[in-house]
Amino acid sequence: MKKVESKKIEKLKSINWEEFYKTPLNNKLKYFEKNGRLFDMLFSQQLTPEIISNLFATANKIRKIAKAKEGLDWLQTLLSHKRAMLYFVQPSTRTFVSFQSACYILGLKVSEIRSTSTSSEIKGESAEDTIRTFSSYADIIIMRHFEEGMAEKAAWMLNKIKRPISIINGGSGKDQHPTQALLDLYTLDISFAERGGINNKTIVMVGDLLRGRTVRSLSYLLKNYKGVKLIYVSPEYLRIGNEIKVFLKKHKIPFKESADLEKSLKEADAVYMTRIQDEYDINGESKDIDYTKFHLNQKHLKLLKKDAIIMHPLPRRQELDVEIDNDPRAKYWRQERNGMWIRAALIAYLFGIEDKILNI
Ligand code: CP
Repeated sequence: MKKVESKKIEKLKSINWEEFYKTPLNNKLKYFEKNGRLFDMLFSQQLTPEIISNLFATANKIRKIAKAKEGLDWLQTLLSHKRAMLYFVQPSTRTFVSFQSACYILGLKVSEIRSTSTSSEIKGESAEDTIRTFSSYADIIIMRHFEEGMAEKAAWMLNKIKRPISIINGGSGKDQHPTQALLDLYTLDISFAERGGINNKTIVMVGDLLRGRTVRSLSYLLKNYKGVKLIYVSPEYLRIGNEIKVFLKKHKIPFKESADLEKSLKEADAVYMTRIQDEYDINGESKDIDYTKFHLNQKHLKLLKKDAIIMHPLPRRQELDVEIDNDPRAKYWRQERNGMWIRAALIAYLFGIEDKILNI
């Protein structure tokens, strides 16, 4: 590493958490790298076209190899000497199980804590000490936390100790969910493989855009493509945050906001539905919002292009009619399975073994 970079990292190590957290992301991205590679996966903004393409290739290869028992047996030898800690103290089904499955595919041994009520946090231990404790036993921590910034704080803290281990952010409050964005991107890439890829596509994101971390992370990630247009469709109160708009303007990504789902659907190459995130309500404000205007049901299908795709990070409520599941354009069940492969690829990358997989 260049001397200047090294000095910057030392400076970042010396400041306290409040100062570190306030530091603009671009000025601290290197803190989460080692030897020119990602060490922690915390934000979509860390992912470059080169890393994304490496991860897609690795995911495709893992998926192919794992089809045969001998292949899966071989994959399971690759990280059989490593242990993963799954610290998921905010509810999850698919992120948790897909990461757990991804670890099994690569042979990692997995430990889990799924609630602060079953860890020593119930006795008053801080999240910081809890996470530090995991680093005594595990080689990687995959975490979901209700508090924004906690994954970053874990990485900030562990990168200063003698035995640093990688952190993967599996969802941090309303903030980010970068591996969901990665699996969304992987699904878009597969779906548009025969239509020139993700470049030049129009993506319509619908729902609670203010508090939906998957939408935020995917918006950041789409900067890696050319000619992408974004249409954000939401109730007035749940419009996409200003920081995303600033980012899109900076990266010259055209976007518009609308409250008209039907009109927007006609333009879509991909529709990305999301549920209302009322777990983040402060005073039950969601109950006054008419979300039915942002529900996708069978009557909308005729408005969509024949080759458009329908996505949803799931879980869903009424915003995505179950009747749509049978439409060939519905990709959300594949999307969640894609999550397992791309998460396996990410783990392989963080342990630096992706070449073993790619070169076999
Ligand atoms: N998409 C997603 O994060 O789902 P879970 O909350 O079930 O993990």
